[in-house]
Amino acid sequence: MSLLAVLDRLSEVSSFDKSLESARAAVNKVLRPQAFKDLLHGTWLGHPLHPVLAMVPVGTWLSAGILDAVPPARPAATALIGTGVAASLPAALAGAADWSEQDDAVRRLGAVHAVANSAALGLYVGSLVARRKGNGTLGRVLAYSGLGLASASASIGGHMSYAQSSGANHAVPEARQLTTDWIDLGPLDDLPEGRPALRTGEGQGTPIGLAVVRRGARVDAFINACAHVGGPLAEGTVEEVRGADCIVCPWHGSAFDLESGEPRRGPTASAQERLEVKYEAGRVFGKLPNRHASK
Ligand code: FES
Repeated sequence: MSLLAVLDRLSEVSSFDKSLESARAAVNKVLRPQAFKDLLHGTWLGHPLHPVLAMVPVGTWLSAGILDAVPPARPAATALIGTGVAASLPAALAGAADWSEQDDAVRRLGAVHAVANSAALGLYVGSLVARRKGNGTLGRVLAYSGLGLASASASIGGHMSYAQSSGANHAVPEARQLTTDWIDLGPLDDLPEGRPALRTGEGQGTPIGLAVVRRGARVDAFINACAHVGGPLAEGTVEEVRGADCIVCPWHGSAFDLESGEPRRGPTASAQERLEVKYEAGRVFGKLPNRHASK
């Protein structure tokens, strides 16, 4: 069985779901207010923050592993290990924030990722203690063990990101399929005022859902699948969030600015795919920007 198949199997094990739900509730209780959680999600950055922060411990620990092989450079290795230990806390907080808003399969694998990272951190802390006590050999053994564990854990994180799409923009696959021609969204007067409505566009033989919001004579249109993990925006609401009128996802509450698609509230870190809109003879038409024109 391949490593990837093992990880897929792990993400199907539901035996610990109750404990994971308790852990999720605890994370949501600790990571408050929402603005702090959004800071950790990377909503302000337009990109998940966790992989950015995780580069610091991974990079410093890997560099320390190289320097530890060169005796005169070992004091620098110790300094790098200390830096990685300190940097692991914000990386862990950002990871926990993202983890708490994912589906069951991602959360199960994320728990394994967190346990492995915690164990690696413990080994590095042990390494620092051993070095401080003058036991450099033990310090290096613990550090290399930590590096092995952190690397294995990083591959789990990669599987979560790429195979399980935990940090991906879930609206993009729909946008890629959607025609780049103008789509007839129907008469303006048929759209309800101030709440999302579902319309469909053509996508290589498959209907692609679109969430359309009318405010007076203005219409804003988006891919229906939420950028976060694909929730149905057309079943959401229109609310003012942080000073902007937004379409709000019914699944985890991500809010996207109606006029730009930019995220105003997480957990999403990505903007929502938004269509250009034009009006002709009382009808509304939408069209994806050309960046998705691949056919
Ligand atoms: S699917 Fe999570 S906020 Fe939309």
